[in-house]
Amino acid sequence: MKILAIESSCDETAAAIVEDLPAGRQVELKILSTVVASSTAMHVKYGGIVPEVAAREQLKCIIPTIDETLKLAAIDLSSVDALAITVGPGLIGSLLVGVETVKTIALATGIPVIPVNHVLAHMYANFISNDDVIPGLTRNPIGIPKQVRDDKKVEFPAISLVVSGGHTELFLMESEKKLTWLGGTLDDAAGEAFDKIARLLGFENRGGPAIQEAASRHSGEESSTTPESKTDSGHARMTKLPRPLMYDKTLNFSFSGLKTAILRAWEKEKNHDTDFIQRLAYEVQESITDVLVSKTLHAAATYHAKSLLVSGGVAANLRLREKFQTTIANLPAGRQGLESTISLHIPPIQLCTDNAVYIASYAYFRGEPTDWHTITAVPDLSVEV
Ligand code: KG4
Ligand code: ZN
Repeated sequence: MKILAIESSCDETAAAIVEDLPAGRQVELKILSTVVASSTAMHVKYGGIVPEVAAREQLKCIIPTIDETLKLAAIDLSSVDALAITVGPGLIGSLLVGVETVKTIALATGIPVIPVNHVLAHMYANFISNDDVIPGLTRNPIGIPKQVRDDKKVEFPAISLVVSGGHTELFLMESEKKLTWLGGTLDDAAGEAFDKIARLLGFENRGGPAIQEAASRHSGEESSTTPESKTDSGHARMTKLPRPLMYDKTLNFSFSGLKTAILRAWEKEKNHDTDFIQRLAYEVQESITDVLVSKTLHAAATYHAKSLLVSGGVAANLRLREKFQTTIANLPAGRQGLESTISLHIPPIQLCTDNAVYIASYAYFRGEPTDWHTITAVPDLSVEV
């Protein structure tokens, strides 16, 4: 079965073809081709994504993207068994481009259509068996070339953290199909916090990667609980940033307070030099990644998870990947509730940020073919399943 998937929920236009292939007695989901066109760079000068510009770029890119995906897979539409399409959540103008394109293909060809929830789909990037075919595959910091997983299949129950630009959500996964929403952010998502703080620090490029880059250059001077002391570079020592809701019993998150804390530190310091900015970037990244790892492990212990899945744009963050890896590798024997054999699954970086491979993967494992006449774009589609 070959699935052609299309993703157009924000500023990326993506198409991919995946196929389920027998591997011994099991079936594996493999990528035949994947193409992503992005208008991210066009939004830089506006300091954020402009929905109208994003939608216009989607219109320009959608047909060439689908065409190229088919060519790379060396097939035409007559070999496609199902179409998968993101119907939400996302920007209405962008979503409509993909949805109406897919309905047109369905009208012309009769191929069945499977509507997909973009946020839930992110986690299905962890169910692709040949993700190492991706051009320019980005390796992990600790050198594991494929997904961060101990070469084990996902076992259930699993805990799944989805961290994207607009969402920070935890799910219990009892099978490939059975999902239960456990908690999410009460205000800003982790990606949104990265993006807003990056703007505050004066970075022009997309938030998360800009903060990661600046944080990696930080000299490592410790923050302090005594705000009056000075660092080697002469700045007032920054008070350690909070870890919002980290010890709270619920599985909810809150990141908007970090923005305020950074704003205060910014206003207090007169010398906004590179050292200072890199230190703030470092502190923010440490705070966000500490909370994400700690909450996910809390969920894993509560539900006796055998696997941990991490996905979404923020899962591309090298520090987050490293923290998850080292924490799982060094779990103290018998930590309450946590399975000592728990396996960790994080997709390669190219499958964390938006693409259509995981849209196809979701459609395969959890999607339902739906009469195309009834399919509509739903910008505020809920993730609370
Ligand atoms: O999943 P995604 O590509 O799009 C949405 O569905 O929202 O996620 C985009 C988010 C942005 O907030 C971006 O800043 C963040 O993922 N992101 C990162 C990194 N790469 C992308 N955040 C931290 N570190 C990164 N390396
Ligand atoms: Zn996304």
